[in-house]
Amino acid sequence: MPQITFYKHDPIPLEMHKVRIVQKLNLLPTDERLQKIKDAGYNTFQLHNHDIFLDMLTDSGVNAMSDDMEAAMHRADDAYAGSESYFRMEKTLQEIFGIPYCMPAHQGRACENILATRFVKPGNCVIMNYHFTTAKAHITRVGGHVEELVKDEGLVSKSDLPFKGNIDLDKLEACIKKETPENVPFVRLEAGTNLIGGQPISYENMKAATNICKKYGILTVLDASLLQDNLYFIKTREEGMADKSVREITRMVADLFDIIYFSARKFGFARGGVLLVRDRDLYYSMEDLIPMFEGFLTYGGMSVREIEAMTVGFVESMDMNIISQGPQFVGYCVDCLDKYGIPVITPGSGLGAHLDAAEFVGHIPQEQYPAGALVCALYICSGVRGMERGTLSEERNADGSERMASMELVRLAFPRRVFTLSQTEYVIDRVKWLYDHRELVGGLRFVHEPKTLRFFTGVLEPVSDWPDKLAEAYKADFGPEQ
Ligand code: F0G
Repeated sequence: MPQITFYKHDPIPLEMHKVRIVQKLNLLPTDERLQKIKDAGYNTFQLHNHDIFLDMLTDSGVNAMSDDMEAAMHRADDAYAGSESYFRMEKTLQEIFGIPYCMPAHQGRACENILATRFVKPGNCVIMNYHFTTAKAHITRVGGHVEELVKDEGLVSKSDLPFKGNIDLDKLEACIKKETPENVPFVRLEAGTNLIGGQPISYENMKAATNICKKYGILTVLDASLLQDNLYFIKTREEGMADKSVREITRMVADLFDIIYFSARKFGFARGGVLLVRDRDLYYSMEDLIPMFEGFLTYGGMSVREIEAMTVGFVESMDMNIISQGPQFVGYCVDCLDKYGIPVITPGSGLGAHLDAAEFVGHIPQEQYPAGALVCALYICSGVRGMERGTLSEERNADGSERMASMELVRLAFPRRVFTLSQTEYVIDRVKWLYDHRELVGGLRFVHEPKTLRFFTGVLEPVSDWPDKLAEAYKADFGPEQ
């Protein structure tokens, strides 16, 4: 389905669904927002949903469900072992991916735990195009380390390259040789590479990278959590792919990998996780970890209602009308911000719009967490909750020094089919205001700093009274009520 064009109107994304259930939103007055972010320790993960106007923290577990997904939940078959809901899911995934063995887990990071526990030994190196926080944390937890070999162009914020998630093939082969194949338990490619702005990876690149792995006998793993967006971009951006169906492309991608796992909080639009394994002996070597950490092999810690919903979600992810919504809304938002001169990762991805905080608030030193500060400033000036994806989301080096992130991003995720175009316009408008007042934003420092995944629960404070001054300027323009 091509994007709908208009007769007189400039191009805008058009919702290919109608809204039948709604949830009331609250927009607190500015002073209350100021207090709430202070109470949250200047950490947007610690805000309460009631105090948020538009929640753009993540697209994880908060995508809109379809009527068919809701309906499917009613036929859920509760059983400790042998649930029919599980067998329906297994069959659907086998049809889509062509991989025989299916292991359920309660969410994506649970799959990562299983992979790290089963395959990674102390000193091992797991090669990736780019890490995801939880994937890396599980690998380091068992004594491994991660090499990220995304092509240099993937870390350039302004670009018109279609596949910035591609792995550098020369570096991949050199790294395997340097580490020796025995020390590389698997290579993990991430579709819709999250932490560099949800940028896709091309089919050609996945094929070439997995061929190199096969040459050295190394296991290939695809993190397919953001595959639905990546499929859209392969179909619309990659040469020779336009005429292939989403199902055909999915199968071509799947055929390249030994193991595919995903967070079904993203892929499938519900809440859960799945590991797909091609080889029987490999499957047997992993299956005991599911009952140990997750639950019996026919529910894996998930509610059977979610299993039913996500099974419909998997089928809907093969529909271009459905998977095009995220990229079209994100693309619209990114283009509007870019035209205004706001530093934003281009081209747009499927996951969300990503502000380049290193440039947006370039006056804040990296050790004062520019992206963490900017995301708090945006909440004060709009009630919009985004997510820091920069140095705060990193863990310190073994010697206690900061590991500076290669990108300082504020992610404004677009949970799929949740926000309307006028809400998107509000976000764009407030980001423009903030950009014009960016010199008012200052840095943050830790008051309480957890050792692992500190961005979830850490408590911070501003280095000066900049939040008050920012709120004053905002109220001067908009009044105290909005
Ligand atoms: N892999 C990728 C690429 C992800 O984006 C996520 C989660 C996971 C694995 C872990 O899955 O949350 O179900 O345990 N990303 C969320 C986000 C948290 O907000 O981007 P999970």
